[in-house]
Amino acid sequence: MAYKILVLRGDGIGPEVVGEALQVLRVATRDAAVKLEFKDALLGGHAIDSAGSSLPEQTLKLAKDSDAILMGAVGGPKWDNPQAADRPERGLLALRKELGLFANVRPVKTVKELIGASPLRPELLNGVDLVVIRELTGGIYYGKPSERRTGEAGREAVDTCFYSEAEIARVLRFGFELARERRKRLTSVDKANVMASSRLWREIATELSAEFEDIAFENQLVDSMAMHLIRRPRDFDVIVADNMFGDILTDEASVLAGSMGLLPSASLGEELNSAGFRVGLYEPIHGSAPDIAGRDEANPLAAILSAAMLLEHSLGLRSEAELIVQAVEGVIHAGHRTRDLGGSGARATGCMAMGRLVRERLENLLPGD
Ligand code: IPM
Ligand code: MG
Repeated sequence: MAYKILVLRGDGIGPEVVGEALQVLRVATRDAAVKLEFKDALLGGHAIDSAGSSLPEQTLKLAKDSDAILMGAVGGPKWDNPQAADRPERGLLALRKELGLFANVRPVKTVKELIGASPLRPELLNGVDLVVIRELTGGIYYGKPSERRTGEAGREAVDTCFYSEAEIARVLRFGFELARERRKRLTSVDKANVMASSRLWREIATELSAEFEDIAFENQLVDSMAMHLIRRPRDFDVIVADNMFGDILTDEASVLAGSMGLLPSASLGEELNSAGFRVGLYEPIHGSAPDIAGRDEANPLAAILSAAMLLEHSLGLRSEAELIVQAVEGVIHAGHRTRDLGGSGARATGCMAMGRLVRERLENLLPGD
């Protein structure tokens, strides 16, 4: 049995971190009963340059034919012209939408040794273990109209936050079901005091909570949620938010873990793959970091942990995924630090060295022959 994995290295540090993650995947599945078949395709800025589109047709076709997708990051100053017809981010948004990946799973866990890398007080951080489920294919990212135009008073622009009942219910249901496997708490985030779409969101969340009586449920306004997340992060288990609130809250939550360079994500839909699991797109939550691209300074751990999520959620290879997580933890315990984790000067571990260290640990953890 061979599973098809599409690899979208993307822009900036994307190719560097994905390169390390791929090598880790190869080691982790060395003895697995299944084979992984990797194919590369273009997405984002370099796809605009070489294929004339941020999501070339060929990429979309391969994506629809894959069991799972591993992605780096897209974007960079080169493609930032506000007048441009196409943008790297557009390709990513179109891909998420086309594949129906409505639930973006972003786990945030603190690691003891890295608590010092966070600017927050250590006593707030010990034992944080939460997951944000961000709605990924609706809301203000996709609502129409979304445009810039000229009105009577000059330049204007509009974006629309639209949600249907079905879109809200399916992502909340996903969150409730996940909460059942975890600590049985769910916080639904909205701005119901101002936005109509949020009032619908809150209504549906509250209705659904009646079906999940075993889950401790609460609604939170996004502004106070932003505060609670920093003041009492340990109180949260599963947090469900719309597309934009989830985007913002997860960058904030990355400060809890110490660095964006540590946080993986999985984007899942309803469709099942040939392994009988959900098709998924796996990517670090960090961006393409053009300022450090090509310098072997990026932290590959978020990409490596995204690869572990791919094994678990799209291929059902739980123990292999768990060993990757253990290998990453081992490397951190041993004191290796990329620059974003506080590694400084010549002592900082580079991207390639970090990847190699994880693979060495993994080799030792894999059952021997
Ligand atoms: C993310 C990113 C993307 C988003 C950008 C690159 C379009 O910030 O995945 O969190 O806003 O969804
Ligand atoms: Mg973001």
